[in-house]
Amino acid sequence: MKSRKSKLFGAIAIAASIALTATGCSSDEGSNASGQVEVFSWWTGGGEEAGLNALVEVFNQEYPDVEFVNAAVAGGAGTNARAVLATRLQAGEAPDSFQGHAGAELMDYITAGQLEDLSFLYDEEGWRDVMPATLLPLITVDGKIYSVPVNIHRANVMWANPKVLADNGITMPGSWDEFFAAADKLKAAGVTPLALGEQWTQLHLFETVLLGVLGTDAYNGLWDGSTGWDSAEVKGALDTFKKVLTYTNSDAASLSWQDASKLVIDGKAAFNIMGDWAEGYFRVDNSLVEQEGYTWAPAPGTAGTFQFLSDSFTLPVGAKNRDAAIAWLKVAGSAAGQDAFNVKKGSIPARNDADKAIYPPYLQSAMDDWGSNKIAGSLTHGVTASNAWKAEIDTALGLFLQNKDVAKFQAALATAATNAGK
Ligand code: GAL
Repeated sequence: MKSRKSKLFGAIAIAASIALTATGCSSDEGSNASGQVEVFSWWTGGGEEAGLNALVEVFNQEYPDVEFVNAAVAGGAGTNARAVLATRLQAGEAPDSFQGHAGAELMDYITAGQLEDLSFLYDEEGWRDVMPATLLPLITVDGKIYSVPVNIHRANVMWANPKVLADNGITMPGSWDEFFAAADKLKAAGVTPLALGEQWTQLHLFETVLLGVLGTDAYNGLWDGSTGWDSAEVKGALDTFKKVLTYTNSDAASLSWQDASKLVIDGKAAFNIMGDWAEGYFRVDNSLVEQEGYTWAPAPGTAGTFQFLSDSFTLPVGAKNRDAAIAWLKVAGSAAGQDAFNVKKGSIPARNDADKAIYPPYLQSAMDDWGSNKIAGSLTHGVTASNAWKAEIDTALGLFLQNKDVAKFQAALATAATNAGK
């Protein structure tokens, strides 16, 4: 079934097939970099900052004459950062490099003419041979490659507190029906079944419910127009999502993703669905050991599928410290940089020549699954839908969280898809 995968990625690449002018580049740019490099991301808190710091450490060793300026804007999933970035780009105040998700999100920047072609770095650094074939079409337009992926994250992971599971005689649910049975037991025992945070984490939960209920092919079809948002199967997924929400904490809107993970760590909640940056938070920030302090399984109904996203770094047009930015990108794409970063971040390297042995068990299993599972893209983290389409889905979700009206939600989702040309 290669068709869905290539259809998804092909559609994204073709949709953005616009000719862009490249800036001329000599072969050793970046090697004599000095001054400053301002790097923009949203990696400020637990589970995020440690990875960035590890990458900066490698950068400082390799480019001691360049001062790293951290322009990170706090807020999970970049909800605040992307708004700040848009303002800066519009004002001609681009940072020297910014974090953008491979896929539809990056295509928005490319088609707006905001990024430089980085193909010369791929040639110089030999990256065409080590970056995965699945990823390259998501960052390429008209044969030009526009970003440097540092990692692959998995979105469809359900995390749990092993002690809470054991105390209540439950195991990781393989389906949403199994989850509901476990959740009723937990509720009766006074434990929150599923920890939830602010709205983007609810969008994240929503995309995993869509994947789990629809199945991989129908889920991927949502993004190329072959699965109707007005279909009975989508209604089934929305009904399930509505029911799942009844098993979550009532203060979700005021919690960050780390706060929601902490409810699981503290045994106040049994489960949480979050991308595998949560693994970094459990293991690196909270010194927990897998299977003792935390355990995991694919989100219900999604075993055998790897719902992915990829953080990548760019060279914006008009970067003030272009040479230093190229130096930063070289480190971000290097094996040493990726191994230092990903062990801490809770992600697997984008490069396929990483040193597997240095990764903890969860990440080793993620490497195996990335290589063998069916692939689906994340909505919340920029793979499947443009910023505009995602924003419309998010608005529809916001209304649904207030009124819980499935019919209205489905109609708004169908309109959003039509507006996106699907
Ligand atoms: C994602 C990003 C991850 C992680 C997460 C939580 O969008 O790709 O690296 O930072 O947000 O903030």
